[in-house]
Parts: sequence; structure tokens; C-alpha cells
Amino acid sequence: MTDITAKDLTLEEQASLTSGADLWHLQGIPAKDIPGYMITDGPHGLRKAQDSDQLGALQEAVPSTCFPPAAGMASSWNPELTRKVGVAMGEECLQEQVAVILGPGVNMKRNPLGGRCFEYWSEDPLVAGKQAAGLIEGVQSQGVGTSLKHFAANNQETDRLRVSARISERALREIYLRAFEYIVKHAHPWTLMCSYNRINGVYSSENHWLLTDVLRGEWGYDGMVMSDWGAVHDRVATLNGGLNLEMPPSHTDDEVVTAVRMGSISAEQLEAMAQGVLDLINKARPAMEKAKAENYRYDVAAHNEVARQAADESIVLLKNDDDILPLDGTKSVAVIGEFARTPRYQGGGSSHIVPNKLTTVLDGFKEAGVAVDFAPGFTLDDADQDAALTAEAEKLAGSHAVVVMCMGLPELAESEGFDRTSLDIPSKQIDVLRKVAAANPNVVVVLSNGAVVSVAGWQDQAKGLLESWLLGQAGGAAVVDVLMGTVNPSGRLAETIPVRIEDNPSFDTFPGGEGSVDYNEDVFVGYRHYDTSKVAVSYPFGYGLSYTQFEYSNLAVTPVGPTSAHVSVTVTNTGHVAGSDVVQLYVAPPATPATPLARPVHELKEFAKVTLAEGESREVSFDLDSRAFAYWSERLHDWRAVAGEYTIQIAHSSRDIALSAPLTLEGDGKHLPLTGMSTVNEWLSDPKGVAILEGIDGNALLKAVPDEPFARAMMMEMPLHSAAVFGYLPKETLDKAVEAVTKQ
Ligand code: BGC
Repeated sequence: MTDITAKDLTLEEQASLTSGADLWHLQGIPAKDIPGYMITDGPHGLRKAQDSDQLGALQEAVPSTCFPPAAGMASSWNPELTRKVGVAMGEECLQEQVAVILGPGVNMKRNPLGGRCFEYWSEDPLVAGKQAAGLIEGVQSQGVGTSLKHFAANNQETDRLRVSARISERALREIYLRAFEYIVKHAHPWTLMCSYNRINGVYSSENHWLLTDVLRGEWGYDGMVMSDWGAVHDRVATLNGGLNLEMPPSHTDDEVVTAVRMGSISAEQLEAMAQGVLDLINKARPAMEKAKAENYRYDVAAHNEVARQAADESIVLLKNDDDILPLDGTKSVAVIGEFARTPRYQGGGSSHIVPNKLTTVLDGFKEAGVAVDFAPGFTLDDADQDAALTAEAEKLAGSHAVVVMCMGLPELAESEGFDRTSLDIPSKQIDVLRKVAAANPNVVVVLSNGAVVSVAGWQDQAKGLLESWLLGQAGGAAVVDVLMGTVNPSGRLAETIPVRIEDNPSFDTFPGGEGSVDYNEDVFVGYRHYDTSKVAVSYPFGYGLSYTQFEYSNLAVTPVGPTSAHVSVTVTNTGHVAGSDVVQLYVAPPATPATPLARPVHELKEFAKVTLAEGESREVSFDLDSRAFAYWSERLHDWRAVAGEYTIQIAHSSRDIALSAPLTLEGDGKHLPLTGMSTVNEWLSDPKGVAILEGIDGNALLKAVPDEPFARAMMMEMPLHSAAVFGYLPKETLDKAVEAVTKQ
């Protein structure tokens, strides 16, 4: 630990701290004993470049444990598990002397075609926030930092370096910033990484509102913010906006010094930005020095086990007709599909790591002592289907009791850097599936894909369907664990599987063009849209089967304050094997007019994963605070939880609500500002408005409201000004009321 603060440094030294030394290192100041630590990717394992000068040398990274990417691990709905993965990742950073691992990424899956969906968690900010918070706590428990990214609104790859995401403040607050806010407040990430894109016209790297007003001012963040790689276009603007560190360096530190001398950056601002980098170095120092002194080595085999456990919990059982799963170990198994021996286990781009071990599905069967026969069925390239491969697959299918068919998105179909153009998997795989299913109806499909694919057109060909996402290096073993029933599947979808891409709420506007993209669907992202608009889906958000069943009972909902409540419910494993369930709590808002704007029909506000033996019951409880009920009011520029009757729903998925109970809350008492253009309803439902009108004419307006429903509705929606025009109140009363409210 050094006692040096930024104040003790020269202007040149301060400027130097605010940019990196090279692609993957901070710029240290050796003369002052300030080390230039390594910071590198992330996010589902450590990707440490062998050669610091080469951006393209990623494939030659130091081998490390490849944990399941976020798209997989999100389905575990288990922050304890992500914490465990984080601890292991932190240990690998210690061995490799990496002070910050770049991740996790918690951008929202606005559209399943987004190229980095595999690296992101969910279409819901609570799932993303809680899952990623676990990972961050795990890494940082080892004395190593994380970099929560990409702040904010990096929800597409098309034009990602420039595009301006045009988003309402409400959608930002409720959806696109929400996971970041949750994590900053609960898990205190050491660093954040800004996104490349612009938000409402301003680059995130220069966005004072985002980096300074909201992040530091409102959320109280005291860590540092770095740029995404190459996201800085103007050093002065970024430093003034609140960005501490430019990565990699543009070698313009002298321009920063000049800017301070010319007054375009204040000396205090540069000092504060440099201090953020110094604080980070000081935080990382103890663990880095200790690991170096002890020549720390992590346990490779133990980490592979953690990767396997994470993969086990990432698999979602979507379909299990005739209880085809778990497989009967005595029956012959044909494994078809190139993915069974050439697995897809991670995505392409900056997160691509070199695994220290890799288990395929075929290896998994072998390790489990289950003899299988294999046919590749198809190739993973774009070549036309080879008739001989189809014939071989058909023959193998016909000669075995059951077929495990491994299908999915080939590596080239999805990556950082571009968006997908279709929800479909290659048609040749589906053609082979049809032939295989005709030869043998007992087919279980195992899907490998980093982002949602359509299943509607072909899933009737399979009795069993496992969504196994990308599972990291131990994925093959995990798939076999679930197929054989060694592990009871417990994954739940963290994103909806729509029937068609046209059903997605951002279909019309994704990915935009001419430099901008309009988020017209506003807060109606994912299930918030599908459930509100009652759109049929293939599989809903939160869905996932188990080899056992769970039932809920004894729902008790108790208000504990004007905007808070305690909820408890009993969950019982009613089946015949042990298993884990995810209890999901959704809140439905009061009906209009209590809710003065369009809100999703319900939103996930809590969840808990519970493991229960056969027949076991357990009570699960949740404490809900005002944010569980609030929406972002653009008029108030604040969160607002209105008074009214909410509904608490306990559900197996967003479409399978098992229990619900009303909850009447007093609300937070916040009212929209009253003006002459506020409606009669707004005046009369605000105690302040009623008091003013009482004081003027004994609230004659209230008495003037007609009883007849149609006339009443018309009048209640009239601005006070119009009510005066129509003669419901004297002009004098209007003027006095407006004067009184303006003075308050
Ligand atoms: C990605 C980041 C990554 C960085 C460093 C960028 O292109 O957007 O997620 O951490 O490169 O590899």
C-alpha cells in the first residue's frame, strides 16, 4: 500500500494514470512505487493474452477454466452458484497477476438477434443484476477487481461503436440502467466499463449525466470507470464527463496536460480521475503482492468441477414427453450431430478463452460408463447437406432405442461484432432431425446456442428438448449428467423463446440505421411485452421442467409500511426425486386510474432457488421495498409508488402463476406537480390540490363532478383550465388555485 495520493503527483503523472500503458496494462509510475497492473477479459473465465501488444493474439491466451457464458449461467437463477464461479475466477486472476477481470456484462437482451446475447444474462434486470452481483462478490472476495460492463445500452453489435440509442429516461431507469444500479449498490464493483455507443446523442464515455450525475451522484459509486477498448474519441470530454481511464492508450497524455493548463479540464477534475485509478491500484495491491510472494497456484481440477456444477445448473429442460428423460441406462443410445464431438461451449470475440480442459458430450457418456454409437449427421460449415451423412444418421437412429440429437448454432453464426439476421438454426440440421425422427420417434434434442433460437417449426419432432445454451468447458459432462438423471435439471429460462422474431417488441426498430436506433417499445422488453400484449410464445420467461414437481401453498402477504411488504409461501417437492425449484415473485400494478401510465402487466421482483428432498416442504420469504412497486416518473424525475391495490403473484414462470394475493399500499405520497393543465382527477386525488380548492371555494369543483359515468369520466380527464372554460368552476377559482400551487 502506498500513501501517495494524486495530490502528490505532478500534472504529467496524473495525466499518465488516466490512460493505459498498452492493451492490457495500467500505466504505473515505477519511480513512485505505483505498479502498472494487468487488466484483461473476462467475463466467463480469464483470457490473459500471451503477448500484450497483440489484440489479435487472443486465441493464444494462457489456458484457464472456461465457465459457462452468462447466457447459460443466467438460467441457474442461483447467485450462490455465480459467487462460487466468481471465487474460482478470482483465484485464476491471482495466479496470473491480473488485477481486474473485465466483466460481467449486464446489458439487457432487447432483441435475441443481438450478437453478444451469449455474454449477457437476461431480458430482465433483476435476474441479470442478482446473478452478476454474485459473480462480482466472488471475484472481489479474492482481492481482485471486476469491471461491470458495458455502461450502458450496448444492446446490439450493428454500428456499436457509434450508434445513438434513443431511449426514454423511464426505459433507461426501469430496464437498461436497473441491473447496473442494483449491482453498484449491492456488490460494489471496483470498476465499470463504459459502452461504445451513444445514449440519446452523447457517447457513454463522455456522458456526464451517466457517469457523474447518475452513477456517482445518485447511486453513490466510489470506484473507477474505464473506457471500452477504443471508446474514447476526445480525452478532454471523457475526463470532464467522469471517465477515469482510457483503454487502450491513444498516447495523448500530453494533450491532457495542455488541456489542464488551458483550463478546459480543471486541475481538480484531473486529480479526481487520477485518484480513482490510484485507489484501484491500492485495492488490488495486497492480493497481487501476496499471490506473487507465495507463487500462488489454483486447483485446476477443482475449478473444472465448479465449471461442471455451473453447467449442470445452466441447462433448461423444455420438453419431456412420455418421460423420455432421464434416459433408461439399459437401453441403447444413438448420439447424432457434430456438436456431440465438436462442442459449442463459448462465444466468439473478446471473451474467447483457451480452456484448460474440454469435455464433449461423447466424452461425457464415456466418463459416465454409458456406451453410445455416434454419427455426425451434418457438418458445422455452410456446405450443403451431404446425403451420405443423412443416410448414416437415419440408419443409426433406426437401430437404437433412443436418439440424442445435438443441434444448434455453429460458431460462425453468432459472435461479438455482428448481430444475427435470423432466429433459425441451419435448415440442414432440421432436415436431418426430421429423417431421424421418422426412423425413431424417441428423440431428445440437445440445443447448443448462445442466444435464443426458434423451436416452433420443429420441436414436434422431439419428445425431449434440452436448452443447454453454451456451457463452458465441462458442458459435455453436464449434458450427460442431466440426460442420465445424475443431476435433476433446475434451470429456468432467463429469456423468452418467442414463436417468431416478428413477435419481439423491438422487431421493427432493431438494429436501427443511419447512426441511431429508437427504443420505441420503451419498458415493454421481453416478457413485459409478451405477457402484457398476450402474445403466444414457444416457452415463457422463467420456464423450466424438472424430473420432480413443486407445489406452492400458504401464500401470506403483509404490508409493513406505506410502500413495503413481507411475503411468505411454502414450496413442496411433490414428486419422487430430490430437486431444485426457482420460486418466482411477480408484482402486478394497480389498475388505472391509480396507475397513471402504461405499465407491464406484471414484473419479476424477487426469486429464490430452493433444493428439496422428495416430499420436503420449506417456507420461503421475501421482503419487498418501494422499488418493487415503483415506476420511474418522468414528470417527477423520481421513482413513484402510487397508492392502490397491487397483486403479488407466486409463479413457476411468467405464464404459470400458481398463487396470487392482493396487497393494498398507501403509496409514497408523491404526486405529480399540479398546474392549471393538471386534470380535475389529478387535482382531486392529490390532498394538496383538494386543500387548495377547499380554501378557495369549499371545493365546489368536487360537487360539480357529475354522477352520470360518461359525463363524470369526461370531466375528470379535463385539465382544470378546460373545466373553467366549460363552466365547472369559476375562472377566479382557477386563477387562485394556480397561484396557490405555484407559491408552494
Ligand atoms: C469489448 C469489451 C472487452 C474489450 C477488451 C471490447 O471490444 O467490447 O467487452 O472487454 O474489448 O477486450
